[in-house]
Amino acid sequence: MKKNIINAPDLNKTRKRNLAQEVRIIYDELVVPDIVQKKAPGLKFLILTYGCQANVRDQEVMEGMLLQAGYTKTNNIKNAALIILNTCAVRENAEQKVLGKLGSLKSLKENNKDLIIAVSGCMIGEPVIVDTLLNKYHQVDLMFGTNEIKNLLNYLAKVYQNKEVVVAANDDNNDIVELLPSTRLSSFKAYVNIMYGCDKFCTYCIVPYTRGQQRSRSSVDILKECQDLKARGYQEITLLGQNVNAYGKDLKQDISFGALLKSVAATSIPRVRFLTSHPWDFSDEILEAFLEYPNLMPYLHLPIQAGSDRILTLMGRRYHKNDYLNLITKIRLKLPHIAISTDIIVGFPNETDQDFMETIDVVKKVRFDSAFTFIYSPRDGTPAARMPDDVPYKTKSQRFISLVNELEQIIEVKSQQYLGKTVKVLVDGVSKNDPEMLNGYTEDNKLTHFKGPKTLIGSIAKVRINSAHIHYLLGELDAA
Ligand code: 5AD
Ligand code: SF4
Repeated sequence: MKKNIINAPDLNKTRKRNLAQEVRIIYDELVVPDIVQKKAPGLKFLILTYGCQANVRDQEVMEGMLLQAGYTKTNNIKNAALIILNTCAVRENAEQKVLGKLGSLKSLKENNKDLIIAVSGCMIGEPVIVDTLLNKYHQVDLMFGTNEIKNLLNYLAKVYQNKEVVVAANDDNNDIVELLPSTRLSSFKAYVNIMYGCDKFCTYCIVPYTRGQQRSRSSVDILKECQDLKARGYQEITLLGQNVNAYGKDLKQDISFGALLKSVAATSIPRVRFLTSHPWDFSDEILEAFLEYPNLMPYLHLPIQAGSDRILTLMGRRYHKNDYLNLITKIRLKLPHIAISTDIIVGFPNETDQDFMETIDVVKKVRFDSAFTFIYSPRDGTPAARMPDDVPYKTKSQRFISLVNELEQIIEVKSQQYLGKTVKVLVDGVSKNDPEMLNGYTEDNKLTHFKGPKTLIGSIAKVRINSAHIHYLLGELDAA
């Protein structure tokens, strides 16, 4: 099959980004190419999303575009005429899952030559992956990166028209395209992007390459979206960015994240959350916002990544262990009830036992309410992947197990504080393992299961907790 490489991923080019280049905000309406308009009616699509919340929001935008073009959505992969795997590149195991899925789609494609298989998302920012897909995965018709979603329909047109494999990793421009249609996967919880990309370049991380330069949306556009969600009855908004503290730093008028947070909370949407904060540059204004607005949910995700200063420096994190500990003390002094979660990587190149014990020390001192833990996974093209590493994988996985044990002991003890208390739960739906039970999240983000009528889904219920576990709480509907 002919290949049309519109733009190939280029890590060097992405690294040497031109921060002086102006970010344009485009307010054009979506144009559906003729051939797509003709083909789409009667065709069904399915998007499988891997990875983080940013990818979920990307899925909603892709769905909006495809629906507007005339496709319909299906949950049955066998009925789909267009399958998009919306991928994550942050660790190798996420990629393995996608490659495995592509393998299983091969026979579908062999039985249905008209089936279009596309791969989108962060994996398409990686040269090795694009090469692998081009050379070994001939079932893939279209590859497009996170900044190319806006052109999805144009690329589909090329695939239909020219019967060629199209690759569009990420274009050079820094446009923010505002008026793309989108669905919402939930009718009561919404993600709102406040910025795209990341300029932090932590040495282990592929995201600054795959999602490109940091670009903040205008606060006017963000607020409009939040007000619209409020008017439509949404109960919860999560503001999304790789590094929300840096919001606005790339804008000409410097609007801070703290100020943005206050104006979103002032819409009086019942629950406001945000993800992810970087400990560097965490402002007092954010803490003030929490004190001022009770609808800012008392939960903070603040990745530490490692406890050793040596490793933090090698990671390019821009803070030391004590800076992080002091920040936590300051936060808890002002907001004693806020739950704090974190991300931790073990097994960074040449991490010693002593380095690892520093991580354990932070865990003991901070006593996190929850944590996401990872074994370091080298990402091709990042500085950390070039660091020699003589730590055996077995040592890394042993450290991982002892870290998880330490965290679980702490979280189990901490979760006992909920016993006998009544908490407010935004009800998500029916529990997976027990159709009798509903589930949802407390204000401080604890997963909670309880028995109740399905009519509660989408509303905030009061639940009295009678059993507390590491990963969830159990309770009963509080009639009062
Ligand atoms: N290896 C392991 N974990 C990683 N993360 C990011 N890059 C890597 C990597 N190369 C983790 C970080 C980040 C979270 C989203 O994923 O902890 O905060
Ligand atoms: Fe990756 Fe660091 Fe940016 Fe987070 S802040 S996306 S870890 S580079």
